[in-house]
Amino acid sequence: MNRDDFFTYQAQTTPHPLGLEISHANGSYIYDTKGKAHLDFVAGVSACGLGHSHPRVINAIKEQVDKYMHVMVYGEYVQQPAVEFTKLLASHLPKNLETTYLVNSGTEAMEGALKLARRYTGRSEIISAKNAYHGNTMGSLSLMGFEERKSVFRPLIPDVRFISFNMEADLQRITTKTAAVVLETIQGGAGFILPENGYLEKVRKRCDEVGALLILDEIQPGFGRTGKLFAFEHFNCIPDILVIGKGMASGLPVGAFVASKEMMATLQNSPKLGHITTFGGNPVIAAASLATLQEITESQLIAETLEKEKLFRKLLVHPLIDEIRGKGLMLALLMKNKEIADHLILTAAKEGLILFWLLFEPKAVRISPPLTLSVKEIEQGCDQIIAILNRYKAATVN
Ligand SMILES: Cc1ncc(COP(=O)(O)O)c(C=O)c1O
Repeated sequence: MNRDDFFTYQAQTTPHPLGLEISHANGSYIYDTKGKAHLDFVAGVSACGLGHSHPRVINAIKEQVDKYMHVMVYGEYVQQPAVEFTKLLASHLPKNLETTYLVNSGTEAMEGALKLARRYTGRSEIISAKNAYHGNTMGSLSLMGFEERKSVFRPLIPDVRFISFNMEADLQRITTKTAAVVLETIQGGAGFILPENGYLEKVRKRCDEVGALLILDEIQPGFGRTGKLFAFEHFNCIPDILVIGKGMASGLPVGAFVASKEMMATLQNSPKLGHITTFGGNPVIAAASLATLQEITESQLIAETLEKEKLFRKLLVHPLIDEIRGKGLMLALLMKNKEIADHLILTAAKEGLILFWLLFEPKAVRISPPLTLSVKEIEQGCDQIIAILNRYKAATVN
């Protein structure tokens, strides 16, 4: 493999990509082409909850590939993997989240949710949160509460307004004009910010008062990462539309939006085919999603997630770490400043530990490992982090 070809032929979006040359990946490790093992504390940015190449998922994919891969566009034929997955998912969700539309990515799921909200309510206004991230297509980008990353792509979709996450006073901006309020259950790119003081319950109440829908984006915290199958279960708040993706298919491209049967039925008429996708519900990806959900719900992984969080919090105490935010295995180290965050991520990368940045919080270091990470692996990675920070501190004090 010619490394230069990567820079020549594959479109680049950052000036200095990490550029690790991948050979294969297994469990909590990614192996580079020189044979070096890298302990993965990022899991493809929260996408590989079961680690790499989980045998149950690999077997399900292989079995499905041998039967059929793609036979028709979304929603025409009865294909067992998609039916079984959506049925199992519904059994783990509140009654109103009964019907799932399967798509190809998180951002497409958000687009579908926005269309469904406008179609169902007959209203157009969408309310999003400052520092929100919901994806990068035009609709999702319109919801991004971070001007610097979107201004050059304007004009975006109209009638989007912003509130501050966790600010109760802003809830009065949700009115009878509002089709939907879109929030991440835990704000990701902003710095792994949890809802506080019953915030989501208050949002829910306000939405009910004015007849607006509540869309919760669980693309990142979903599928067990926060110690519940979905993070909204922590906060006594059930959305009207749930948006999911990332960890759903253990590393294959996927997304979905989930709502009541009655609401989803509006996509069937006026116009019919209210959302179209060729590959959504793809049987191979649905088979991977089914195996993933079975494994997560039949094992102890979700319960163990909270124990693993405690261990991370116990081991990652250091004067250069101001705070650890997040829940379960969706954790962010808030460093004293951006330089320390950059130093930690880049040094760890050289030393075989994978860490990563967050989109809008330059002082943060992401820890979103596979849920299957072992205690020994947590100890090993945390030892590496502390050693890097000790060396940095010693070098900068002297
Ligand atoms: C909260 C949230 N919403 C939406 C997305 C977009 O998902 P995708 O990259 O699959 O389009 C992401 C991806 O990082 C996310 O974290």
